[in-house]
Amino acid sequence: MKSLRMTKRLYIETVGCQMNVLDSEMVVASLRKCGYELTLDPAQADTLLYNTCSVREHAEEKTYSSLGTLKRLKQAHPEKIVGVLGCMAQKEQRSIFERAPYVDLIVGPGQLQQIPELVKQAEQGMGRQVAVSLGRRDGSLEQIRRSHETFDPLRDPQMRPTPSQAYLRIQIGCDKFCTYCVVPMTRGPEQGRPPEQICDEARILADQGCQEITLLGQTVNSYRFRQGGQTTTLADLLGKLHEIEGIQRLKFVTNYPKDMTDELLAAVRDLPKVSHYLHVPAQSGSNRVLQRMKRGYLVEEYREMMSRIRQFISEPAVSSDFIVGFCGETDDDFQQTIDLVEECRFKNSFIFKYSQRGGTRGAQLFPDDVPLEVKQRRNNELLAIQNRISEQENLRFLGRRVEVLVEGPSKLALKRGEAESPVTQLTGRTSCDRIVVFDGNRRQIGEILPINIFDASSHTLFGHIVTQHVGPEVFALSENGS
Ligand code: 5AD
Ligand code: SF4
Repeated sequence: MKSLRMTKRLYIETVGCQMNVLDSEMVVASLRKCGYELTLDPAQADTLLYNTCSVREHAEEKTYSSLGTLKRLKQAHPEKIVGVLGCMAQKEQRSIFERAPYVDLIVGPGQLQQIPELVKQAEQGMGRQVAVSLGRRDGSLEQIRRSHETFDPLRDPQMRPTPSQAYLRIQIGCDKFCTYCVVPMTRGPEQGRPPEQICDEARILADQGCQEITLLGQTVNSYRFRQGGQTTTLADLLGKLHEIEGIQRLKFVTNYPKDMTDELLAAVRDLPKVSHYLHVPAQSGSNRVLQRMKRGYLVEEYREMMSRIRQFISEPAVSSDFIVGFCGETDDDFQQTIDLVEECRFKNSFIFKYSQRGGTRGAQLFPDDVPLEVKQRRNNELLAIQNRISEQENLRFLGRRVEVLVEGPSKLALKRGEAESPVTQLTGRTSCDRIVVFDGNRRQIGEILPINIFDASSHTLFGHIVTQHVGPEVFALSENGS
């Protein structure tokens, strides 16, 4: 039976990277325009969307398991529309129907702007709708590029990480083709977005109260936009965004080690609003593995980049990603990864067990020959080493004052059910992306506050709000050392 309510309800589940969080924000904005409101209860929803990730098998299985729970709901209410969006939709395409035949929509990352239309067609009984981009060999470069373009400027403040923080896409796709990675297939060729469009969107975000903008790209520091014989780089773009009133902090993720130019490091050093946090995945400390991964650099070049970061930037906070158990990785290769982690003293590292992905060069060329127990052991070992380093690095903040953008109630406050009480434990981040927990008042959410640090663990700094009036000279000892 069709619903008589005017307002329709949308349930949306998002897994994966920040790109997906941003994509979901845009999908919600476009459906709100068509009269939808959000619900957190799948049973109440008229349309249920799953924005998916294909980077590891585990993420795909999570989505299949969520879809599995819908089987009964969809049997009882066939009028509800179920959609699979994002990288899995692009990678798996019609084979999703085999495991979840009640899915109505399959929409790749490049077709998200078509969702209102596709939902309408499904509602009108026009059958299953599939909208995906061209494969990397299915047309001219220009045709493939156009099929992946997804620069929809619609934004929805309610879907942001917090009201004062927003993501802003400056680049889509990736041309690096690391042998383990599906992203060049699911998100298509690398394309930089025009700088004027980026700055216009940043101004809108600033007007909506965003103080911190995180620029997104798969290899964000490779960003280039050529027009009329002029090339805009990420450094140029940061310079332009720095001028926008209201924006206090600029971050950018994820960086590609080979494209970390002196020009960019100088911009990070010279532009006070730009965070000294740099996420630059190394993936492995062994040249043999890096070559098999086709990462395009040697570990010596990564080390050289780290020393340049330290020359340019005072107190940089560098974080990394590592894949353990990649095809053919020996104990000796893994030891070299440990050596790199010990030496670089990353703020934190994201560590992943290699997951073979269909359609990648890695899956074609090399057997997935490191046993799961070995992958797990290496993962645990590297994580323990990184956690020790993260804790030691955090302990250096004891007795220091940092500036924190207050995000909201802490996890503990939420667990205790205190989220609505005015005085509660709050959480926020320093400009260098360190999580700080302290007691405060909900009124302070969205403010940038000085906090004195009195304790630290590997993932968190604990502090007190500085209550007395502080003049600018007090910030001379702030986190960036500036
Ligand atoms: N298996 C495991 N980890 C992967 N990543 C990308 N592809 C794979 C894969 N097939 C990791 C990389 C990347 C991060 C986003 O995910 O470390 O930097
Ligand atoms: Fe994947 Fe490599 Fe591109 Fe990163 S740089 S998105 S790991 S192919």
